[in-house]
Amino acid sequence: MSTALAKDILEYHFLSKHRPEKYADSLPFLDWDNQPSPFQEYLGTTKLELPFLQRSLGLGAEFLYQPVAQPARPVDLESVGAFLELSLALSAWKSYGDESWALRINPSSGNLHPTEAHLVLPQLSGVFHYQPLHHQLEQRAALGAATVPLAAILGQGFWVGLTSLAIRESWKYGVRAFRYCQHDLGHALGALGFAANLLGWKVKLVNGLGTEELGQLLGFPKVRWTPGEEEEPEALVWVGPGEPLTEVPTEALELLAGLDWTGTPAKLCEDNLPWQPNEEAALYSRQSHRPYAPVLLPQRPWSKTRPQLYDAETLVRRRRSGQAYQAAASVMDQDRFFALLEATLPRQGYAPFDLGLPCPPVHLVLFVHRVTGLTPGVYLYCRAEESLAQLKEVLDPRFLWSPFGDSGLFLLEPGDARQMIGQACCNQAIAANSTFSLGMLAPFGGVGEDASLYRRLFWACGLVGQVLYLEAEAAGFRGTGIGCYHDDQIHDFLGIKHQEFQSLYHFTIGGAVEDQRLTHQPPYDAKRNR
Ligand SMILES: Cc1cc2nc3c(=O)[nH]c(=O)nc-3n(C[C@H](O)[C@H](O)[C@H](O)COP(=O)(O)O)c2cc1C
Repeated sequence: MSTALAKDILEYHFLSKHRPEKYADSLPFLDWDNQPSPFQEYLGTTKLELPFLQRSLGLGAEFLYQPVAQPARPVDLESVGAFLELSLALSAWKSYGDESWALRINPSSGNLHPTEAHLVLPQLSGVFHYQPLHHQLEQRAALGAATVPLAAILGQGFWVGLTSLAIRESWKYGVRAFRYCQHDLGHALGALGFAANLLGWKVKLVNGLGTEELGQLLGFPKVRWTPGEEEEPEALVWVGPGEPLTEVPTEALELLAGLDWTGTPAKLCEDNLPWQPNEEAALYSRQSHRPYAPVLLPQRPWSKTRPQLYDAETLVRRRRSGQAYQAAASVMDQDRFFALLEATLPRQGYAPFDLGLPCPPVHLVLFVHRVTGLTPGVYLYCRAEESLAQLKEVLDPRFLWSPFGDSGLFLLEPGDARQMIGQACCNQAIAANSTFSLGMLAPFGGVGEDASLYRRLFWACGLVGQVLYLEAEAAGFRGTGIGCYHDDQIHDFLGIKHQEFQSLYHFTIGGAVEDQRLTHQPPYDAKRNR
């Protein structure tokens, strides 16, 4: 299949736009026999079974965001097992007829799961790949004599390196795959942030590290990849209790470069199809080593109380995407709606936005259909007051900008937006027949000067998406990420002419109708205590 090539990240963005008359290039059919495996396995590695939580943590859902009062868990096999169980592990198996598939704690576009995780763990004296299928660590290197100096560098914490396997997404979504990998990465970062909080830990992004150095830190130059199946280094986070480490000293890179690395990734599919624009997008948006100023978030109290249906652990385990919504079950109380919006605001010291992502905040354009006391219509939720003047300048002058007190919410245009947004979201009924759906408007102007910002903007959207998933679930509703939408149809509606803002991700929330044809099984074999 021949497809247009991109010469820079802005052109990739253009090429990967869906338009009603022409979707971004992808295969005209789904080659089911050639679907890449959703599970990466490093062959020839020693496997370390991670334990599952034996007792509930007994924490309220608010502790997903706010730090727990009790002492932090020490980093050991048990707590690392709990951390991954509550962030990147399987959450259930579903089946229909002869088909069954796994769902995970973190969502993923098309359930294709391009995100992989590697852990540098002095506490377990090794570097490991996380295998969610069996909740195992695959040991890619023993730290040996490097254990003590790395432990001294890392303090009480450890590193998690996240990577993407774009081929899993491009198999289905062609040129748009790189975007979806970045959304999923943001969701994974959010899931890690929430799980860490429950253990009294923090997750901090190591911002200054270049993409290539991250690959070196993870031992990638020594891996024998199947061509086209290379993992793309994305982000490194420090995780743990105590004082976070926000950079990687050269000494650590040298120690890791000197290790004996083992393990060869199993082939993911028979005949992989490299989608060149995705490879180019990865190349163009790589980050070089550079310093970043620390990211400071506002100190902000929660003004709304939110009755929670579930404790924190139940909530992360039962998070699912809605497949279809029912009008009668999709009416949301106004207080809940405002509380849900407030949960998306960045706050100093609160997960998941205290990660330290150097990136301007994204704003929400809401298509409100069924919130009590709120006129149906199009609204804007401004997540950072300093952006308001620019938003008012850029968006269509016809908009009303009627404020709701000082909540940050503005009514732009009353009216029934269901047909418009349903159609703009690739004719997906879940965007129209819901409580509300929304687009995430990202300040896009900086991408021209710093192409690595492209990835971070999508991660920022994924973080907001992860909050929305959990908030919807906590309210007895259900959320769904929407990656399929006609980009410029949204921009035209909003009056955006010059890419100052771009809608990079959509989302919808409603009262879900369960598909009764599907059966559910627990995520892991009962023999392993779960
Ligand atoms: C980035 C992203 C984009 C998505 N886009 C869509 C979409 O356009 N339409 C849809 O029905 N579901 C969409 N989903 C939902 C996924 O299909 C869903 O997360 C996946 O099937 C796994 O199911 P789960 O979320 O219940 O674990 C998206 C999810 C993510 C994370």
